[in-house]
Amino acid sequence: MDNQAVNSKKIAAGKAIEYIRNGMTLGLGTGSTAYWAIQGIGEMVKHGLSVKAVATSIQSESLARELNIPLIPFSEVDRLDITIDGADEVDEKLNLIKGGGGALLREKIVAAATRFYIIIVDESKLVRHLGKFPLPVEVAPFGWELTMRRLSELNCTPRMRMAGDKPFLTDNQHYILDCAFGEILDPAGLHRKVSDITGVMEDGFFINMADIVVAGSPGGETRILN
Ligand code: A5P
Repeated sequence: MDNQAVNSKKIAAGKAIEYIRNGMTLGLGTGSTAYWAIQGIGEMVKHGLSVKAVATSIQSESLARELNIPLIPFSEVDRLDITIDGADEVDEKLNLIKGGGGALLREKIVAAATRFYIIIVDESKLVRHLGKFPLPVEVAPFGWELTMRRLSELNCTPRMRMAGDKPFLTDNQHYILDCAFGEILDPAGLHRKVSDITGVMEDGFFINMADIVVAGSPGGETRILN
């Protein structure tokens, strides 16, 4: 990743953590942008901030542990005050494609339990219409070939995500099919069709979930979209 992209991500994360207050319960996102938010929260905890957090992946959980961010089991959570997470694409209505890092199912469960859901991106992720980034679809390993055929009937080219010569496994022990649809004009409608396919555990559309999007630029500016 080039330094400019890293800087944009860091800047966006730095802005997002300004929303955090003492006593809040937080959701920790996953990926290279959420990484900077978790680092920032770790720094705030070091300087006396008192928060509790749940993580959206094993990876983010380990990072939070290293930084001494107090973690609680998701079963103890009713509502989270703030979750900060990244995205692969953000459209003009703040609909998202997520799941490039494979954590979409947990990310969506956490997002759905969140009062104020903040998405942080470098500005290159802002698009007019979703779809250039293939839609990650998490599927049950049992019968995945059939699930893949049903997905391709929706006019996309699905590809099994691999980790070396084996299928990539999510934290929930599912597979991911990355579905190239091209430009998507009706994400909500397509989300319904994808979700209707038996064997689909979750897709990477996050429709009407983001409260704000903080976009960072390499020059160090942030833009807040809502
Ligand atoms: C993880 O599954 C994803 O949803 C990430 O939030 C998304 O892929 C953005 O990742 P980066 O911040 O690494 O681009």
